[in-house]
Amino acid sequence: MAKPGGNTIKVWDPLIRIFHWSLVFFFFLSYFTEDDWITVHSYAGYIVGILIAFRLIWGLIGTRYARFTDFITGPRKAIEYVKQVLTGKAKRYIGHNPAGAAMIVLLLVSLSLTVVSGIALFATDGQGPLADSFFATWSDELLEEIHELLANLTLLLVIGHIAGVLLGSLIHRENLIRAMITGEKKR
Ligand code: HEM
Repeated sequence: MAKPGGNTIKVWDPLIRIFHWSLVFFFFLSYFTEDDWITVHSYAGYIVGILIAFRLIWGLIGTRYARFTDFITGPRKAIEYVKQVLTGKAKRYIGHNPAGAAMIVLLLVSLSLTVVSGIALFATDGQGPLADSFFATWSDELLEEIHELLANLTLLLVIGHIAGVLLGSLIHRENLIRAMITGEKKR
């Protein structure tokens, strides 16, 4: 939504910003509590799952720049954008750029799989919402490996995401982190 006559444009609505910074908090909380704080770990994981479910719905019915149709473009455009970055000709996007968008899709998929594998692991112990599902019969060692692998993959994606945000901020000389706090960008 543009401010009439203003120099800035409202890009990220309040729900997206609350979603994002809550996701950052609960992702790291669950990541760093898995060893000794299993109750905190699992509740933080459930909250991550709820946040992702919210984001999937908001991607369909949310505000303009939050909608998947606004930023999901497919790998060709993402590769094209990376080439533009490498040749110093990257176009500026008001919403997510195509490479950032591809990373967001990967993050959402990886986070979802991490949450589901965690709940499945709980099921092998007769606990959680999937306790009566077929996951209960799976090997807990296998599920533990899968869950850990996915969590570490997500962490790698997060590192890539933060590097992309910093690079995007440098290239276009705009503070993308502040934009995710205030919701506003320069026109
Ligand atoms: C402290 C570290 C982080 C910073 C500074 C950061 C910053 C940002 C920024 C600036 C954007 C908007 C990108 C754009 O302008 O196109 C963004 C989007 C996003 N970030 Fe992060 N991020 C961080 C950590 C994370 C973590 C840990 C996750 C996931 C576990 C995450 C997931 C996302 C997602 C899913 C979006 C898309 C927002 C949406 O449209 O819903 N971020 N992040």
